[in-house]
Amino acid sequence: MSDHDQVTMTGMDYSKDRPAAENPLKIMDLTLRDGHQSLFATRGRTEDMIPVAEMMDEVGFWALETWGGATFDTMHRFLNEDPWERIRVLKRYAKKTPFSMLLRAQNLVGYRNYADDIARAFVERSVENGMDVFRTFDALNDYRNFETVVEVIKKCGKHFQGCICYTLTEARLGGKVYNIDFFVNKAKELENMEADSICLKDMAGLMAPYDAYDIVKAIKAVVSVPVHLHSHFTSGMSAMSHLKAVEAGVDIIDTCMSPYAYRTSHPAVEPLVMTLLGTNRDTGFDIKQLASINEIIEKDIIPKYMHLLDDTKASIIDINVLLHQTPGGMISNLINQLREMDALDKIGEVFAELPRVRKDLGQIPLVTPTSQIVGIQTVNNVLFDDESERYKMITGQVKDLCYGLYGKTAVPINPEVQKKALKGYPRGEEPITCRPAEVLEPELEKAGKDVKGLAVDQDDVLTYALYPVTGKRFLKWKYGREEPPPEVKPKTLADVRAEQKLIAKAKAGLLVEKVEKEAPPKGEFFRTFNVFVDDEYFEVEVEEPGGPPVVSYVQPSPAAAPLPVAPPVRPVPAAPAAPPPVAPSAPAPPPPVAPAPAAAGVAGTPLKAPMPGMIIRYEKQVGDVVSKGDAVVILEAMKMENALSAPADGTIQAINFSSGDNVAKDAVLCVIG
Ligand code: CO
Repeated sequence: MSDHDQVTMTGMDYSKDRPAAENPLKIMDLTLRDGHQSLFATRGRTEDMIPVAEMMDEVGFWALETWGGATFDTMHRFLNEDPWERIRVLKRYAKKTPFSMLLRAQNLVGYRNYADDIARAFVERSVENGMDVFRTFDALNDYRNFETVVEVIKKCGKHFQGCICYTLTEARLGGKVYNIDFFVNKAKELENMEADSICLKDMAGLMAPYDAYDIVKAIKAVVSVPVHLHSHFTSGMSAMSHLKAVEAGVDIIDTCMSPYAYRTSHPAVEPLVMTLLGTNRDTGFDIKQLASINEIIEKDIIPKYMHLLDDTKASIIDINVLLHQTPGGMISNLINQLREMDALDKIGEVFAELPRVRKDLGQIPLVTPTSQIVGIQTVNNVLFDDESERYKMITGQVKDLCYGLYGKTAVPINPEVQKKALKGYPRGEEPITCRPAEVLEPELEKAGKDVKGLAVDQDDVLTYALYPVTGKRFLKWKYGREEPPPEVKPKTLADVRAEQKLIAKAKAGLLVEKVEKEAPPKGEFFRTFNVFVDDEYFEVEVEEPGGPPVVSYVQPSPAAAPLPVAPPVRPVPAAPAAPPPVAPSAPAPPPPVAPAPAAAGVAGTPLKAPMPGMIIRYEKQVGDVVSKGDAVVILEAMKMENALSAPADGTIQAINFSSGDNVAKDAVLCVIG
């Protein structure tokens, strides 16, 4: 248990320019990477980072996490953005604060171990594009998977931060595998690899506050490099764990700007700044400056992403993590998988089987990709195993794991399961014990040949090498060989406002569900109308059921048409444009409704109201020359504006109403002659 003697009050000066604390807590901001990865499916766009990048550069963060993790994948796949370009663009706005990336060791920013030549080139290009801090982790905590990338990071003179993936087999720290000694030994191993700092990476939010205290204290006692804590909020404990870690002397803590904080993301920076204000661990940050950044995020950025937030539950924490020591994302994957197989009732069995499978597979941490590997195998066992046989259906990834392709597991894999998994395995039935990438053939040269003529530089080749299918598609978009689909386009604030209007209408009960009606076959008498709703335009076709359109044409008299002044004539009764369609046996149709007389003494083609409504305005005046189809009158009917167009070429001879007049159906609105 802890006392708090490592955090002491030093003064009451809370001004912006207060003297620096004796040992200020350093903060890395995750807003631009883990923040949107955790809350908004990694869909953050560079254009939405630019408005705050310069201001965030001024805060005094130890580093800004801007890249890596899932960003590379989502950018080129879903956002039509060149991942490499993001580093360069953001560097133009944030010049002072180092940039950090999450590097999945030999998995780089993908989901499998890549060959050494790809790994080397990837780190070199990341450095060249502007990356400074390489937060490196391996899902199995097998640091042999660090060797290749670390050599390059070090050679380039960049910061190598080594991660220990925090995981448990019991509810709290302890047990046979994951105890204090385990983490202390891992920290020593990292220091021996010349790590510039050591990160405790609690991706599932499992680290309880007093365990955070003990573990940080124990690691600080044996290593000299800074200790950094990364703890997701998922279970609700991490804000408390942060404080206990600070009391234990942690050097750096990860937070997000408050709009990107909490839920499955990280605690917010602002409460931590206030908590430590005036102590020997005071961050020195100006809370008003943070507030002004938040204002921009709330107003101009977050509205574009809110639809991605999972807000189906009232609770912002997931206590499943406390119950099952399982990352929140993994549980939702399991539930989806069971639902697809129509076996959601088996979720209890899955929770019981999961620790058994994990134990058989060497008590590996549950993080991308191992959480998927353990999760899918667990579901298979629950669905397909019976009393006579376990592991009836073993996935390819479990076979790879048993072969040693991911690295060395925390404890040995159950030999029976391993033997069964490797029966007939194409690489061999005998597992490897060497560093996994040693069995991988070089890949870079072939990748370059594959995209010759498409890739322009090494960055392009790497995009393809990491993601052959989607990477190649992206390169085609980038170089105009293929049109990117509409779904990769960004959402604008105007889109958001239109949606919010609709939602408000729906909440007010003003949206009526559309009744599905089968459309009758289209007759030959329909007319086309232009309909305007605010800025939107529709073309609608109108036809009176059972007969010809009521709008009939007065044939302009050949003599009258060319004359500038029509001689006074009696209005000519309109002839129907065509006979109404009738059944052969039906009696003769009644004569068509006579049109309302055009303005007295004016000959020509009348434009009649196709429906009752209100005249908004006339677009033409008497004497204006119009062509057939020109908009003449705007009529509002059923809250929609309808542009009524000229039925014939000619000159406007008469206008019978004015703006604001209500008109009946068939009223003659004007006459064209
Ligand atoms: Co994270």
